[in-house]
Amino acid sequence: MPEVALNLSRGCGNPTGFANIQAGDVVVDFGCGGGIDVILAAHKVGPQGRVVGVDGAPQMIERAKQAVAEAGLQDRDIEFHNTYLNKTQLPDGFADVVTSNCVINLCPDKDAVYEEAFRILQPNGRIAISDIVLSENIAPELQERFQTTWAGCLGGAIPEEDYWQTVREAGFSEIQIVARHILTPEELEGMACCPGEEFTPPPSKEDRVAVEGKVTSVKFTVMKPPLK
Ligand SMILES: C[S@@+](CC[C@H](N)C(=O)[O-])C[C@H]1O[C@@H](n2cnc3c(N)ncnc32)[C@H](O)[C@@H]1O
Repeated sequence: MPEVALNLSRGCGNPTGFANIQAGDVVVDFGCGGGIDVILAAHKVGPQGRVVGVDGAPQMIERAKQAVAEAGLQDRDIEFHNTYLNKTQLPDGFADVVTSNCVINLCPDKDAVYEEAFRILQPNGRIAISDIVLSENIAPELQERFQTTWAGCLGGAIPEEDYWQTVREAGFSEIQIVARHILTPEELEGMACCPGEEFTPPPSKEDRVAVEGKVTSVKFTVMKPPLK
């Protein structure tokens, strides 16, 4: 894995590890960042497969392209789209698998993102996601501070029940939780300062303590039902 992809990795799991990606699959990575999961997926789909990384930040797309070249994968069917996840402009039924690693919690309109994932998947396609949810409600003013000073990787996290409702309402079924764990104080601090303290200042100790035990990392798969 090239250093540029490792250094920019801001994930909270390894969705390509549990996405059951097969040789020849078409995989779309939502919020590909510096390209780490695009590269991992490219190795799994092999030369007959195809991988598309989508990210809203042009700087990340540039780094991801650099990482793919440094990984020696420039001859593979890999492309990047600099666009928002609620309008990828990919065709209906394009993908076998959608992956995403610590991104959807950041998106203000999670309904639109899951609806878009559903649209671009083939019937019987699947998504494999690592994400962050709130396992307990937190005070609104604290949530507001998350969204301003804690832009990091926690700011947009929503209660877990609301998250599953979003997934189901988009049309997905068979939610399978692969792993989950409550973030430790150290993990919370790291997530809250993501992508780095120079961009996102650390939270106050009181704020961090107030959310301890209430923020959970979930890794899961869901299916788009087959055509009847
Ligand atoms: C925490 S980083 C994770 C990057 C990558 N998945 C990884 O594991 O390293 C979040 C990424 O999602 C992208 N992102 C956040 N919201 C987005 C949106 N609504 N549409 C497209 N990209 C988005 C950001 O630009 C950033 O690259």
